[in-house]
Amino acid sequence: MAERLSLEGLVLASGETELVHGIDLAVERGEVAALVGNSGGGKSLSLLAWLDLLPPGVRRLAGTIRLDGTVLEGPGLAGLRGGVVGLVPQSPTSCLNPLVTIGRHFCETLACSGRAARAEAAGRLAEVGFATPERLLGLYPCQLSGGMLQRVVIALALCRDPDFLFADEATTDLDLESQAQVLVLLERLRDRRGIGILLVTHDLAVVARLADTASVLQHGRIVERRPVADLFASPRAAATRALLAAHHALYEGGTAA
Ligand SMILES: Nc1ncnc2c1ncn2[C@@H]1O[C@H](COP(=O)(O)OP(=O)(O)OP(=O)(O)O)[C@@H](O)[C@H]1O
Ligand SMILES: [Mg+2]
Repeated sequence: MAERLSLEGLVLASGETELVHGIDLAVERGEVAALVGNSGGGKSLSLLAWLDLLPPGVRRLAGTIRLDGTVLEGPGLAGLRGGVVGLVPQSPTSCLNPLVTIGRHFCETLACSGRAARAEAAGRLAEVGFATPERLLGLYPCQLSGGMLQRVVIALALCRDPDFLFADEATTDLDLESQAQVLVLLERLRDRRGIGILLVTHDLAVVARLADTASVLQHGRIVERRPVADLFASPRAAATRALLAAHHALYEGGTAA
């Protein structure tokens, strides 16, 4: 069972433009590490680079990935996905095939079919809060709400019992009830199964509720990294203060900086 996954000195570029300028991140089992920051700061690309899933046109110029101290490259790095790390990408629909039923998605992820696959899939869906999971297996993604899709994608990401879960904006665009369901689910995964969660979000309410530590990413640089309680109590970086001011303005009627 892996305990610590880290990324050191990540530099990303597209053409001549450097997008991420040497950032360090880490996540440990049993903790929620948040990566926060405004849109375009490089959160999703950093997470994808960590799993060797960069989109075409973006290159990793530097960066060392370690699992419990061992440097991963090539096949070792490819082996991270699924078994060690489950990925919940930024848009749940982007990783589901609209022409394929939910049951079929599970068959492909579990690499098995028939009654055993259906039973396993139903169990995984029950784990993320579906009361009648069998009913879902014959449905297509377009027949599910955003909150249901998000939980299906989390269930798929957990199929191989990973030690870590990377969740990119897992609660964005969900109604409040669905947001709460996903947050409770993530909290349970950490507390009961000891999964280490990397939570990518720009929503500080989610960070306050769930995260143990937070790294603030601005224009491809980590400008502050602290335990969440400290970050909220005494933000140091201007970018953190601006995020907090916007958060207070939105939720408490304060004035944004
Ligand atoms: N495929 C790509 N090719 C070139 N540049 C890209 C590509 N994807 C993202 N970028 C650029 O990299 C930067 C970081 O993008 P990224 O998607 O990581 O931001 P983010 O912090 O996840 O933002 P958001 O909060 O909106 O999801 C942005 O300037 C973006 O325009
Ligand atoms: Mg993103």
